[in-house]
Amino acid sequence: MTLKELQSKFHLELNSMYPDEEIASFFQLLVQDRLQLTRVEVALQPGLKVNSRDMSFFSNALTELQQEKPIQYILGKTEFYGLPFKVTSDVLIPRPETEELVDRILTELKEKRQRKKDWSQLTLLDIGTGSGCIAISLAKHLPNASIYALDVSEKALDIANQNAKLNKVSINFIQQDILDSDAITNLSKHLSGEQKFDVIISNPPYVRELEKHEISKNVLEYEPHTALFVKDENPLLFYDKIADVAKEQLSKDGILFFEINQYLGEDTRNLLKEKGFENIELTKDLSGNERMIKANISAQ
Ligand SMILES: C[S@@+](CC[C@H](N)C(=O)[O-])C[C@H]1O[C@@H](n2cnc3c(N)ncnc32)[C@H](O)[C@@H]1O
Repeated sequence: MTLKELQSKFHLELNSMYPDEEIASFFQLLVQDRLQLTRVEVALQPGLKVNSRDMSFFSNALTELQQEKPIQYILGKTEFYGLPFKVTSDVLIPRPETEELVDRILTELKEKRQRKKDWSQLTLLDIGTGSGCIAISLAKHLPNASIYALDVSEKALDIANQNAKLNKVSINFIQQDILDSDAITNLSKHLSGEQKFDVIISNPPYVRELEKHEISKNVLEYEPHTALFVKDENPLLFYDKIADVAKEQLSKDGILFFEINQYLGEDTRNLLKEKGFENIELTKDLSGNERMIKANISAQ
């Protein structure tokens, strides 16, 4: 089969499931990955013969796309904040709104650095690191910072570790259930003496079971449920616990950043207020949804 015929086959077999532009993008990502051909090279070589080994790769990918498997899992990789990340079904596929969170953190820290010289030697903690996308992107942009990243999942930490190597950054990984009663004590063992974290970040599980009907099949069937869902009765469980961790483990002028459930912005703000946090700021993402919250332990 030629490249052009293969491209037509993708469009023919997927057009009832995906828009044309998405199919074109899937095809290009697969061709780039397997044959190392750019979009222009594909257009210039429509008659190029695809050999049988490559054909079986494309046929498998086509079947997986028909089963609504996310293209990132088919390829085993994705891009986040301009950096390459390995992804498997053990980790959540990093989302664009999380890139916005990283951007927001870096902007905030840059402003702080201008006010206070030693703010570049930060100690940061990412709770629920998954693929490591937040911790690794921050490490790449804050070369002097000490970065810790925690997750309950050993398999996720293994991927995050591979991603740290891929991106040539050093991260201190911690396996810990943040909901455990001894989480705070265990965390403090990773710091020396009176040392505290300057920044704690978390994008914890926040999707309520009642929101499942809004979630597409490719997410529900392929992404890890422990990374996504919380019980309807206690949707802020992780925020509650992580806020307690932050109260114990953040330095006096430290900052807590959360990615949040767009429907629970006010509830999250109230929770932080009740726990005594100050300067609470709720921010919308580019789609206009309340998606990020920032708070300090004490007024600055
Ligand atoms: C929404 S995902 C975020 C992943 C990644 N930080 C990102 O932004 O793409 C939540 C992460 O929290 C982890 N997690 C779930 N329950 C946890 C727990 N009890 N303690 C620590 N981490 C937990 C999951 O394994 C998952 O990696």
